Amino acid sequence: MADLKFSIITCSTTRNLEEDTAGLALEELIGNSGWSLLRRVVVPDVREEIADAIVAAADSGADIVLTCGGSGLSLQDVTPEATADVCDRNVPGIAEAMRATSLKITGRAMLSRAVCMQRGTTLVVNLPGSKKAATECFAAIYEQFEHAIQMVAGGGH
Ligand code: MTE
Repeated sequence: MADLKFSIITCSTTRNLEEDTAGLALEELIGNSGWSLLRRVVVPDVREEIADAIVAAADSGADIVLTCGGSGLSLQDVTPEATADVCDRNVPGIAEAMRATSLKITGRAMLSRAVCMQRGTTLVVNLPGSKKAATECFAAIYEQFEHAIQMVAGGGH
């Protein structure tokens, strides 16, 4: 088992660190998988602040940055745009897998604008903001994380 390093960025103008139920649930799931959490932060739904937090997480050595929230249709939802601002390459299959799995649970999954992208060797994954939705989406993709990071590091299959 690889010791992956994670960073969680919850994008919410109304929640604080203690009320960050989705982020806390993700933190527990990361620990249950034997991986490490470098940092969990809450930032407001402000494009530049989210982008800065992603850059800081990548610079601190996170293999995977999980953003949480801000990927819906409200005009305040800017997490996908902030992600694209500071990432170089799209990894569409991860977002497709989250939506495909989630659509079996709720039709509302089609309202997700989440993207998954690479910033250098860091994988950035947009998850939805509710605890239920975030944990459902995490469950849909987490089994591929170790292989993904192995490939990012130049390893083969
Ligand atoms: N995915 C799963 N698995 N379960 C959910 O309940 N909710 C959807 C979608 N994805 C949902 C889901 C809804 S209602 C929205 S608006 C989008 O995620 C974006 O959520 P966000 O704005 O909290 O990021």
